Amino acid sequence: MHSFRYISGSLHCEDVSLNTLAKEHGTPLYVYSAGTFRDHFSKLDKALSDLPHEVAYAVKANSNLSILRLLAELGSGFDIVSGGELLRVIKAGGDPAKCTFAGVGKTRAEIEFALQHGIYSLNVESEEEATFIDQIAGEMGVKAPIAFRVNPNVDAKTHKYISTGKSENKFGIDFESIEDAYARAAKLKNVTLKGLQMHIGSQLTTVDPFLEAVEKVAPLAAKLKETYQIEFFSIGGGIGIVYDPALKSGDPAWWESQDPESRPLTPTEYAANVVPVLKPLDLKILLEPGRFIAGNAGVLLTKCLYEKKGAAKTFKIIDSGMHQLIRPALYEGYHEINPVKEPTGETEVVDVVGPICETGDFFCQDREVPSFQPGDVIAMMSAGAYGFTMASTYNTHPLPAEILVDGSESRVVRKRQTLKELISPEEI
Ligand code: LLP
Repeated sequence: MHSFRYISGSLHCEDVSLNTLAKEHGTPLYVYSAGTFRDHFSKLDKALSDLPHEVAYAVKANSNLSILRLLAELGSGFDIVSGGELLRVIKAGGDPAKCTFAGVGKTRAEIEFALQHGIYSLNVESEEEATFIDQIAGEMGVKAPIAFRVNPNVDAKTHKYISTGKSENKFGIDFESIEDAYARAAKLKNVTLKGLQMHIGSQLTTVDPFLEAVEKVAPLAAKLKETYQIEFFSIGGGIGIVYDPALKSGDPAWWESQDPESRPLTPTEYAANVVPVLKPLDLKILLEPGRFIAGNAGVLLTKCLYEKKGAAKTFKIIDSGMHQLIRPALYEGYHEINPVKEPTGETEVVDVVGPICETGDFFCQDREVPSFQPGDVIAMMSAGAYGFTMASTYNTHPLPAEILVDGSESRVVRKRQTLKELISPEEI
């Protein structure tokens, strides 16, 4: 449940008016709700309370230091994919001993950095990587805690670019070869076999693929526990969120009005399915949610600059685009569009597009949206995950500012980048 709603005719984040924030800080502007982060984290944590478990937030979804601090304070662990993300966690006050490090291409510098800081586990994606880690750990005179990532060859039924658990994907080790990988790694002198990991994909809206993967891999986890005394099984992230209708999904009444058979996946439903399969393992279960925690906790505020009536279409041209929220361009992602000033009910069918010189720079095409005009501020909903973290300065646009709202307080948690900062590393 998120905390974005219309109050007295204006869209609010918790108790703060988004119009006021846009006036004070300008647009484009990312705005996050601290209360929503807390609510989503604790819903997942609670759902798994029947198991020895840890929620390890996937930092890639939203890595702002203040967000990481907030989650560290709630006791969250962190799933990281680079030395940079580990540095962020440390800076934010997170505990490296609660961090798992995933990714197919870890460098020597990153592995050394992780080992120096006493990371909980390096989640290894190939036997070559295990050998390399063993060599580095040997040079450092330490034992590297590792887990292999298994590729269970399960179809996550999500967009092909965020599907990771099929054998044609680059991730993990084939289910058929994984036991051999453990047997060989057990002979390495400088690694400890600490766990098993998997992650089949992102934005999964039904529980079936999760259940299929967990049922397939649980017997393997049991075997590895018996043979190598592994202590954890990470079942990855991937729980999907409601992008449509985003605003309504912030209202508990909306959830109650949904058919329980077909309503979007909730932590309770997820847990009701996977916990019975996991419980007999008596392993520490890790969950690596990113989008579920961050997605509906943030919006991107942007201003309409022009309305252009073309021969075939009406274009609303706004001051943000694919450089600041790439999900529509990259994954055909849907983001609900809501004017900050409460709509009167009038709608129009338009393309909402950005300033970038690419035809793919659109937020929607031929979509019926609440009417808005040049000068109006609009909110791209569900932009808290994979929004700012995937932003670039393409076409030399500075990165937007980020604001964190907590109740009636709001704070700049990242200053808007200036053009001077943007070009300053360059030389002639
Ligand atoms: N664990 C691993 C190993 C992952 O690769 C990911 C996401 C997660 C956890 C967190 O998944 P989540 O709970 O957020 O679904 N940029 C894309 C999503 C890429 C996800 C990459 N891996 C998007 O905007 O849809």
